[in-house]
Parts: sequence; structure tokens; C-alpha cells
Amino acid sequence: MSVVKENIERLLASMTLEEKASLLVGSGWGSMLSICLLSSEKVEVPGAAGVVHSLGRLGIPAIVMADGPAGLRINPRGKGLRKKYFCTGFPVGTAIACSWNTALAEKVGSAMGNEALEYGVDVLLAPAMNIQRSPLCGRNFEYYSEDPLLSGKIAAATVRGVQSNGVGACIKHFAVNSQETNRLKNDARVDERTLREIYLKGFEIAVKESSPWTVMSSYNKINGVYAQENKWLLTDVLRGEWGYEGLVMTDWTEDRGNTAGQVAAGNDLMMPGIDTQAKHIIDSVRNGSLPEATLDACVQRVLELIAKTARFKGYEYSNKPDLASHAALCREAACEGMVLLENRNVLPLKDVRRVALYGTASYDFMAGGTGSGNVNKPYVVNVADGMSGAGFEVDASVEDSYRHFFRSRKNREKRYVMLGNAPWRALEHDQAEIEQAALRNDFAIYTISRQAGENQDRRVENDFELKDGERRNLERMCAAFHRHGKKVIVLLNVCGVIETASWKELPDAVLAVWGAGQEGGNSIADVLTGRSYPGGRLSMTFPVSYYDMPVSENYPSKGIREFRSSSEAMRGIIDDSGRKDIAYTEYQEGLNVGYRYFCGASAAPVSYPFGFGLSYTEFALSEAVAQVIDGALHMSVRCSNVGAAVGKEVVQVYVSAPGVTLEKPDCELRAFAKTRELAPGESEILEFRLPLSDLASFNPSSAAWEVEEGEYTIHFGSSAVDLLLNCKVNISIS
Ligand code: GLC
Repeated sequence: MSVVKENIERLLASMTLEEKASLLVGSGWGSMLSICLLSSEKVEVPGAAGVVHSLGRLGIPAIVMADGPAGLRINPRGKGLRKKYFCTGFPVGTAIACSWNTALAEKVGSAMGNEALEYGVDVLLAPAMNIQRSPLCGRNFEYYSEDPLLSGKIAAATVRGVQSNGVGACIKHFAVNSQETNRLKNDARVDERTLREIYLKGFEIAVKESSPWTVMSSYNKINGVYAQENKWLLTDVLRGEWGYEGLVMTDWTEDRGNTAGQVAAGNDLMMPGIDTQAKHIIDSVRNGSLPEATLDACVQRVLELIAKTARFKGYEYSNKPDLASHAALCREAACEGMVLLENRNVLPLKDVRRVALYGTASYDFMAGGTGSGNVNKPYVVNVADGMSGAGFEVDASVEDSYRHFFRSRKNREKRYVMLGNAPWRALEHDQAEIEQAALRNDFAIYTISRQAGENQDRRVENDFELKDGERRNLERMCAAFHRHGKKVIVLLNVCGVIETASWKELPDAVLAVWGAGQEGGNSIADVLTGRSYPGGRLSMTFPVSYYDMPVSENYPSKGIREFRSSSEAMRGIIDDSGRKDIAYTEYQEGLNVGYRYFCGASAAPVSYPFGFGLSYTEFALSEAVAQVIDGALHMSVRCSNVGAAVGKEVVQVYVSAPGVTLEKPDCELRAFAKTRELAPGESEILEFRLPLSDLASFNPSSAAWEVEEGEYTIHFGSSAVDLLLNCKVNISIS
């Protein structure tokens, strides 16, 4: 047994019941301020989300946990220019996933983990990796994809990056936290096959490929049992089947009156911690309803976590992380995640200088989302800054109309947002004004923005769909600028999918920039000018209509009350009305999430498919090979740059499996790889090796993962519909 394990055993044996219970309960909500209300310990890192109690008698320090998925969130402290504890606001999770670049995800994770280390944080509460089941989920920007393989691989890379600093990561929210409406009480009702293949699979990949120090159990119920007290989930599956040896903590919530049940289920740590929870544990052990051995198992995992931390090892954190190099990484990462959706001979820009910038986010850029996934950033480079920094002349008159618009808070939407500002309404421009701008400028950029955050879902009207003012602006802009032979570019500075089919033919280019982080304006200028290029591919489907998605039958989209106050927002929409989609949500669509549905013959066409993205060059695939050798599927394919500019391609491997025992989606993403940067004429051979178990489906009848025998078709493609080459392989299990 290791020294640490031996010491932990001895430490455990010397602890009182009260000490054990106090270690399983955080120091309370107050830690987000500057002092723990419970223990009145001074919190070393104000603004951190949570602190685990110290035990001075035993030399156990209080460890610190802080959000979040787009960078460390702590209080910058100080006033005005004296503020100094800023953190880098990286591109949001969706943008990193759209890079399909696990090496990049690991670099970003490492930078985030370094800021946690140097600011004295022991566990970074990231990555967030729930499946983007519906475009309306308010936290989709924090999440990665509609697909569990892409989610799991990006999450695992992020975890490896964070933990390379000796700081813990926390994969969250385990599990099936795919809606924000009534999130504290919603019961997600999912059949086991769908649960395993879609909603747990990403977490399984992350656990097995990156060993996260911690997992955060989610607020919601799964098939009637709260995740926080779900023994099947937290002990049988997570630990028993997947071999997870780390710690499980709750999401931040009140005392639900069943702390002993949470401990018994394998939830080790109650966060942020309410003192009644410790009392509940003590009483339960004393009355025999909670075996002390069960308690000890949880205490042991908390001690093991503490023993891993830099704080326990006496690291002297500097409070001076290298924010400059992280900003440069932020700028590069955003370009890799930007997805070029339309380009009619306009990008990269040539021979133009004067630009009319429309859209509030051109001047007040959405670097990320709101809620715990927000970051206190030192600055945000908006589109105007980025374009003028790149030498363009931004039309002053158009800019002034926005500066004037920003002066009145009435121009913000009337809703309360947790940890962030309510978004701006659309500023509408009349035809004459746009006509004048078309004469003065060489081209126009229209930044369409959407913002969301935890605790609240999006709506269909005026959110997923364009707002009226936006459509009129776009129509007027394109008419006027095109009349003068000038181009219009649309940027999607959005928190997730919006409707695009009804307007995407109007402008000359559409570029999804997402929540591109604090360097967003510079990254946009880099891509538009060709200093960089759009390296992203969609990690989710853009449907023609929200209602084309099966999930639209079972998701709250109408009559969702907006928060009216901060307290209401902090509490969230708690609704005990027993209503469908509110009290419970039926995942009736099963596996038919995203491309798994839209690739089916009977599905409606989409506006942009999963995996899609244009480049400034062209790629071709050749020499595709697939064969089963020693019980594994070996594949290779050559990707060549056959265009006239540098670029990186994402080669996606989809598999169509025989559906004899179990019905299967027409195709499923089973592997992917991004090429290095290829110059025109260069090529790279990408090789894949998949254990046959990666092709398995979960059979609820046998409660086992099964690989069906028969003929499999292996598709090599550049999106879920652009399946360019395919091979057939026969798989027999005997
Ligand atoms: C929030 C979020 C979770 C976050 C935690 C601490 O409510 O659900 O993602 O890490 O509380 O801020």
C-alpha cells in the first residue's frame, strides 16, 4: 500500500464521527463571498464556488473548488483599475468541441488548470459535458455536442490538460442534466439503452480515458431517483462497471433531507454544504441507518482527493498566472472552433477597407455565457476592436447608433439573468440609413447574438428563430449593399443553434463564431482576413425548423416563466405542478438525438448537418482501408489538400452496423481525427484502431453491450451527410 494510502488509513482511524461528517459537507454558500458562513474561516480565494472544511487537529487543509468550463471564475477583487485577480475567458465548450481537436482541448484545459493552480484553487469545476439534446437548453454553450463520442473525447482531453497542473477536474453534471427548466426537481425519464448509449457514454469515455479527480452528480432525477442519491448510477455503474476511483460531489444545492441516502449511494461530498447535513450524517450513523463503514469509504475518498492537491503538498501559488500566453491561446483556439457555413466568394476578405458593423454584439461581444460558466475576464475584444485592430475603418455613424442605443437600460431584454447581464434587444435600422451606409462602405458585417445561461432555457420565438427586427435589418442590408455590388457577412455570436434556413441565402457569408472568448474580435478578424482560417466543424445539427426535431415533442418551449428577480433566478423555476416537460421529461425520442435521427431516410432535411464546416481550401479523401485484425477494427485513409490555401480537415468515421438483434441509427460517429495544417498539395494518412467493443450497442434484454455479427459499412466523411468513401467489413464474434 502506498505511503499516502497508509497514512490515510491511519488518519481515518483517528478521526471522530463529527470530524468525518464535517469532511463530507462543504463550508457553505458563503465561500462564494469572502468568508465561510459556517466555519467563519477566511476563504483564501474569494469568489470560489466552494470550500471543503479543514481539520486543523489532523493537519488537513481546507481545499478550494471553483468554476468553470470556459475558465476559472473567482472574484477579481479590488476596485476599478486596482482589480487584479482576473482570469482568462476562453472560448466556451461548444467552440472547443467544434474544433474537433483533442490536442487543442488539452492545451486549453492545461491553461485553465494553470490559472486554478496559481490562484490557489484545488479543483476546477469543469468540463461540463451533458448532451445537447435540445437547442433550447440554456447551458448548451457550456456543453460540447449532441454526440457522446465527440463529447467524451473532448472532455477527456480537457481533463488531462487541467490535471497536468496537479489540479483536479470535475466532469459534470452526472447525469442527464439536459434541460434547465425546473432543473432542481425535473425527472428525466430515459430508457436504459438510450441512457447508456447517449447520456452516459460521454462520461464513460471521460472516466476511462482521463481519470478525473472528481465527478459532479446532477440536480435532476433519473427515472424517479435523484442523481445525488442514485446508487445504481454512482456506485454500480460509475465505480462498479467503469472502475472510477475518484470522488463524487453534489451540485450546489440545499439540504434535501436525505444526506445519509446520498452518502450511501456513493456521493462523497455535499456542496456547497449546509450544517444540517453533517448532523444528519452523525444521527444516521448513531441510529444505525448509515453504516460507519459506508461513511468511512466516502471520507477516505475525500482524504485521497485532499492528498492529491498542490495545497496539501504546500505549493506556494503565485497569484500571477501567465495571462498573456493564455490570451494568445484563447485567440488561436477560437479560430479553430469557428465554423464557416456559407461563403459566396467573399472570404477571406480582399481589397476592402471600410466596414459597416451592425448588431449589438459587434460592439458588446458575447465572449461567453452567463451563470457559473461565466468568467471575470480582464477585457473582451469586440468585433469593432478586432476589425479596427486589423486595419479596417469602422463606420463611425453606424457605431454611434449603437453607442447611443447602449445608453439606455430599457434597450435590454426584460429578464433577469444569473451572473450576467440581460441581452440587448435588436436595434432596427431603416432602409435610408442602411442605403447611406452602403454608399460609404466597402462591405457590411451583421453580428447576430444569442445569450443563455444556467437556470433558464431558451425560447423558440425571437430566440431560436430570428427576431423581427433582425430579419428586416438583414433584408435591408443585403438589398442595399448588393445593389451597390458590396458584400454582407453574418457572424453568429450565439450560445447554440438558431434557425438559419429561412435567411442563409441572403448574405454572402455566414460564420459561426460562438462564445469565442475574450479575444473574440481579434479571432474573428484573423479568420475574416485569412491571417487564420475557420477550423471548425459543427458539433451539433442545425435543423430547418425546431419542430423538425423529435425532441420538440418533449421539451419545455412554451409558457416558460422568465425570472423577474435575482432571488427567483438563484432559486430557479421550481414547479411542483406535475406538468409534462417541467416536473418530468420523457426522453421519448430515444437514440434519435441530432444526426442519429436526421440521417434516417424518413427525416426532414437539415439546414446544416452535424460535422459540417467549409474551409478556405478543398480536401479530398483517398486510399480508404478498413479491416478486422486481432479483434480490432483497423482503418486508414489519406486526406489531401487539393485547394489553394492552407487548412486542417476533420475526417469523421461513421459506421452503419447490422441491426438484427437491435434496431440501429443509420450511422453513428465511431472515430474522428483532425489533420495537421496541410499546405496545398500536402496530404496526411490518418490511422484508427478501434476495439470491436467500440461498435457495441447496449441490449436492455441482456443488460449487456453487444457487437452484432454481420456486415458493417465504414464511412469516411466530412459531415454526417458527406460520406465520401466507404468500406465494408464482416465482423464475427465467435
Ligand atoms: C451551479 C452549477 C454547477 C456549478 C456549481 C457551482 O449551480 O450547476 O455547474 O459548478 O453550481 O457554482
